[in-house]
Amino acid sequence: MRAYEVPAPTGLDSWIPVERDDPKPGRGQVLVKMRVVALNYRDILVATGRYRFPAAFPKNLVPVSDGAGEVVEVGAEVTRVRCGDRVAGLFAQTWLGGAQAADSRDGTLGGAIDGVLAEYRVFDQGGLVTVPDHLSFEEGATLPCAAVTAWNALFGLKSLQPGQTVLALGTGGVSIFATQFARAAGARVIVISSNDAKLDKARSIGATDLVNYTTHPDWDAEVRGLTGGRGVDQVIEIGGTGTLPRSIKSVAPGGVISLIGMLSGGSTIDPMAILGAGCVVRGVFVGSRELFETMNRAVAFHRIHPVIDRVFDFDAAKEALAYLDKGSHVGKVVIRMA
Ligand SMILES: NC(=O)c1ccc[n+]([C@@H]2O[C@H](COP(=O)([O-])OP(=O)(O)OC[C@H]3O[C@@H](n4cnc5c(N)ncnc54)[C@H](OP(=O)(O)O)[C@@H]3O)[C@@H](O)[C@H]2O)c1
Repeated sequence: MRAYEVPAPTGLDSWIPVERDDPKPGRGQVLVKMRVVALNYRDILVATGRYRFPAAFPKNLVPVSDGAGEVVEVGAEVTRVRCGDRVAGLFAQTWLGGAQAADSRDGTLGGAIDGVLAEYRVFDQGGLVTVPDHLSFEEGATLPCAAVTAWNALFGLKSLQPGQTVLALGTGGVSIFATQFARAAGARVIVISSNDAKLDKARSIGATDLVNYTTHPDWDAEVRGLTGGRGVDQVIEIGGTGTLPRSIKSVAPGGVISLIGMLSGGSTIDPMAILGAGCVVRGVFVGSRELFETMNRAVAFHRIHPVIDRVFDFDAAKEALAYLDKGSHVGKVVIRMA
């Protein structure tokens, strides 16, 4: 089969096309013909050697965590899926439910273990969920990391309520899913972005209030103003140290800041600011199968369609990664395997 490997994580060029033997499913395992994979910012971090979990990558790792495909063969004792089912893999293969499993980082696709940028992949049957019927393979492929992370942020600790307000930073994969889920839950969504055209797109997806953080570097004041001084109930915090001080200034007492990404730097965090805000700052690490399945029920009920910015062919996989790195996308970038 055709696949890509990362012999050494030296840069965006480190994905190398290879031929591998076709895998066979063993007892309790499932062979999936991958149809589409979706990229995350993490794939850039892995390719460039900047991803921290795990600290050292397995040799010749198959990259990319997210993908959807079709079950083409099942091993003995497989009961959860059948041939022909449309499935997606869990980001953290062994985290099935409850609080974050202590060993969940040891089984993450395209990081600690081989990912899905290959024509076929064998999964343990427990590491799969079925893709909602109304979604294409392109759309289904986008769910495992960005969507589950957004869902976990909004509903995993302190569930978002109708009428509450969410602040989503940027217009990438996680923040656009958060916008869609929050709107479906009856919440108001303030999106901040570097770019007015991206903000227009966010509005068309459901964002209710828009702030350009380039023309308004004091965006926390804008957010306070938009909420009558109260602040927001939840923050989708993908910026890290560079944005967290302003996120803390944007949140209402008792609100939750979900610490998800580290795309910016350059400031220090004052613990007193967190104390003064009376908020919860919570680390989010994607989510469990239980969260994925709950999210899929909501995606199916509300007929939510993931936002796909651009589709690349398998042979242009490296171009897809470079395109994601450029940062001009809104939503998700995907690669078709066929
Ligand atoms: N903890 C987890 O489980 C988890 C899961 C998924 C992702 N992540 C992390 O979350 C981050 C986002 O991931 P993604 O896949 O959504 O990335 P993405 O699709 O590449 O989107 C990144 C977006 O971040 C926005 N951004 C960058 N710097 C910003 C800043 N200073 N202020 C506000 N927005 C800023 C940009 O939006 P504009 O262009 O609109 O300004 C950009 O489009 C990454 O760091 C990723 O590693 C973590």
